Amino acid sequence: MLTINKIEQAQHSLNEAEKKVNHQYRLGYHIMAPANWINDPNGLVQYKGEYHVFYQHHPYDENWGPMHWGHVKSKDLVHWQHLPIALAPGDSFDKDGCFSGSAVDNEGELTLIYTGHNYIDKELDTFFQNQNIAVSKDGITFEKAEANPVIAEPPADSSHHFRDPKVWKHEGFWYMILGNSTKKQEGRVILYRSSNLQKWEYVGVLAKSDGDLGYMWECPDFFELDGKHVLMISPQGIEAKGDSYHNLFQTGYLVGEYNYGTNTFHHGSFTELDYGHDFYAVQTLLDDKGRRIAIGWMDMWEANMPTKEDGWCGALTLPRELTLREDKVLMNPVQELTSLRKTQYNMLTNKALSNSYVVEVNEDLLEIQAVFDLADCQASSVGIKIRGINNEETLMCYNLNEQKLLLDCTHSGKEDGVRKVALQAGETLALRIFVDRSSVEVFANEGQATMTSRIYPKESRLGIELFTEGGNVIVKELTYWNL
Ligand code: FRU
Repeated sequence: MLTINKIEQAQHSLNEAEKKVNHQYRLGYHIMAPANWINDPNGLVQYKGEYHVFYQHHPYDENWGPMHWGHVKSKDLVHWQHLPIALAPGDSFDKDGCFSGSAVDNEGELTLIYTGHNYIDKELDTFFQNQNIAVSKDGITFEKAEANPVIAEPPADSSHHFRDPKVWKHEGFWYMILGNSTKKQEGRVILYRSSNLQKWEYVGVLAKSDGDLGYMWECPDFFELDGKHVLMISPQGIEAKGDSYHNLFQTGYLVGEYNYGTNTFHHGSFTELDYGHDFYAVQTLLDDKGRRIAIGWMDMWEANMPTKEDGWCGALTLPRELTLREDKVLMNPVQELTSLRKTQYNMLTNKALSNSYVVEVNEDLLEIQAVFDLADCQASSVGIKIRGINNEETLMCYNLNEQKLLLDCTHSGKEDGVRKVALQAGETLALRIFVDRSSVEVFANEGQATMTSRIYPKESRLGIELFTEGGNVIVKELTYWNL
């Protein structure tokens, strides 16, 4: 097939581009492509004992374009090895792109299920989308199936938005959900079923917008978590409201009870998964330890992406373990990430803070743990800044009166720099923060709230500043590790 040549070509272009990359904002411990553009994580799977992650990739340019699938694997979810590009577009069924999808281990064959994107008229952005599979015996080279497209067209009441298959097995059948919208532009997720991954029967609608949840749902995922079912979706077209939905598109979830026999999903309301600027198109896998692990795209469509000038663009978040507490999905960094820690610095233990405390640290890659005692605390707000040598800072601040956590990246290269999330911290506020050269990921109170943003500091780093306003606070702990 055409594909082999295309992959060699793409790989060659990528190798050349890699030589020209400017490293100033390159991340130290996140998944990125060697060069050029990436977006969604695809095909998260554990295969022959290793974790595989694919991603939407344009190996020819730092801007989005005809989508390929980039590929990395890891034994420990921490150290990732780049593998050759897995999929290149250009066959009759995926002429203009291999869009997002998933991966399954089908009795030893690693099978990718993805959307073929085909323009009718590129200028007018008219297109059709279909579903395809590609199979690998070694987990490195993939052959597109003769049977493609395995689903040629959407159901009759559907718009042309018909993409991002997530496939899983349940009681002997393969199930596939797809991101979709109705002809009336209501976002929804639709379900198919198959016994062999090749012939699919349409089952029906699994969930649908109630009118307020956007015109299109991208990148769905559906799984059991602690006895409930969780549908994750990335809707387009939700209006900003209060502290919610301030990014162009959102990623969030519905939690409920699902019945396979009747395809009925009784669920609660939509909740955003992460309240930072840059978190989208999340996907998950279930690993052999029984953990549900999520990785998102750590950027946002239409955002300012200064690394394009450096010859690369886009990264994935840290892998996060999901748990459910009272119908709320909590995200915490996977335990393996503690292996990134080099030296541990215990700066404060049970110390009263009346104003601010600065630790000089000029390294870029850090994990920070800051724990504040909020019982009997008179302060109006407490928090932490990652500071540059002059005016730059990334600010994380908890407002005790409003009970909100705020992330402000206005002074670390972000227009529209403030995001907020409601957090009932109770007696303790524990912030676990991962800082990389151009990202910050905040996990508050064991994943009760998370905030993920790209930052683009220009100054070299001065350090970490802990502060309180309006009164004293006891700092139970300030620890950091260089990574
Ligand atoms: C989500 C998305 C998917 C699509 C892919 C294209 O970010 O728009 O719906 O498959 O990106 O790259």
